[in-house]
Amino acid sequence: MADGSWYDADIDHVIISEQQIRDKIDELAKQVSTDHTDAVDGILLVCVLKGAVMFMADFARSLGRHGPSTEMEFMAVSSYGQGTTSSGVVRILKDLDRDIAGRHVLVVEDIVDSGLTLSWLMKYLESRSPASVEVVALFRKPDAVKVQVPVRYVGFDIPNEFVVGYGLDFSERYRELPYVGVLKPEVYARS
Ligand code: XMP
Ligand code: MG
Repeated sequence: MADGSWYDADIDHVIISEQQIRDKIDELAKQVSTDHTDAVDGILLVCVLKGAVMFMADFARSLGRHGPSTEMEFMAVSSYGQGTTSSGVVRILKDLDRDIAGRHVLVVEDIVDSGLTLSWLMKYLESRSPASVEVVALFRKPDAVKVQVPVRYVGFDIPNEFVVGYGLDFSERYRELPYVGVLKPEVYARS
């Protein structure tokens, strides 16, 4: 087999390496467990599909080594937007499978950009009477700082560029990359 992976030729530059992601997730998991020693029923992780799937898998395993027990829930939402910008109007494609009343909920998000999707989701989850709702986001873009979404845990602040990898896609591709990077301009031109 040739060295390297099919996608390496499409990447202009790497923003966050595989090792940096691994180290950061461990750091986040330690922080979350330190802050939740009183969560006797454990933490209910809510993953927002599909982008957060890699983060959920690695974060849950890291949390398992450091902290309270966890349970996993998955939601899929779609934001009614124009092209690549989200509008804040959200449709639920897949809802929670069970009641979250009285539970400590931690939303596991891949990336916060405008924050509109997340602020809708927070209101939705809060209306179901959990003991708490907090957010861990692996990546945050500059615009997210302008909106009032309380993201308690943030992995990396990244530049305002479209990124792929580690769950993030361009036209459903590049999710399997173990790192996060920016695509070469010609990749967009040929699609
Ligand atoms: P908000 O509502 O915070 O939307 O604007 C966040 C969602 O937008 C997507 N997003 C990206 N997806 N590369 C991607 O593959 C990016 O650089 C990017 N920035 C935002 C993502 O689905 C996220 O949940
Ligand atoms: Mg996407």
